[in-house]
Amino acid sequence: MPSARARLEWANRVQAEYRSAVSAARTVHLLLLCGLDEELARDGMRIVTDELDHARLSHEVRLALGGGDAPVPVEMAVPAASPPLPELVDLAVRDFCLGETFAVPLFAAMRLESTLPEVRAALERILRDEARHRQFGWDLLDALLEVDGETVRARVQLRLPGWLEGFRLAYGLGPSASPLTPEEEAAGLMAPARYNEVHDRCLAEDILPRLHERGIS
Ligand SMILES: [Fe+2]
Ligand SMILES: [Fe+2]
Repeated sequence: MPSARARLEWANRVQAEYRSAVSAARTVHLLLLCGLDEELARDGMRIVTDELDHARLSHEVRLALGGGDAPVPVEMAVPAASPPLPELVDLAVRDFCLGETFAVPLFAAMRLESTLPEVRAALERILRDEARHRQFGWDLLDALLEVDGETVRARVQLRLPGWLEGFRLAYGLGPSASPLTPEEEAAGLMAPARYNEVHDRCLAEDILPRLHERGIS
């Protein structure tokens, strides 16, 4: 039987996927307010439904690992009213260009190491969608750079170090946590050292070059 730590990890994923649905819905709302390309809005709406599917799939994995059927509570901060463009820039870069770009190789590594059929099926579906979500982020950033390149670049450069630090620290198991058991690896958990390795390579070989191409360093 997979451990309580595996069930907790999948409960955390339910929360993370639900938050991604909220973020995508907010992004669509803001990009419509800003009058950006209609195709971006349609891509964004599809992402909202993908993320709800991911949350449900993650809940089903938690059940398959012996977790209870009670819904996982998700606390959400309600954003304060603010001008739409700056908030949209922050969501585009933090949640999509960074979050979804890191997600692709991380989910790929988890899928490689997991062996439970329910876990693999969920990770395969999530991984398939995340590559499209990553592309949405970079397309949205390009659209925002066309609106006001100078302001957007300045805002991103100022906030980028804090966002990157957040992703570096994002992994739940601290360095002092006991090593993963084979059952936990089969359930799609990832050791902190492996997380750091995938994270660092993605940052150096994918994220920083894409930002650099857009005049952000
Ligand atoms: Fe997702
Ligand atoms: Fe996603």
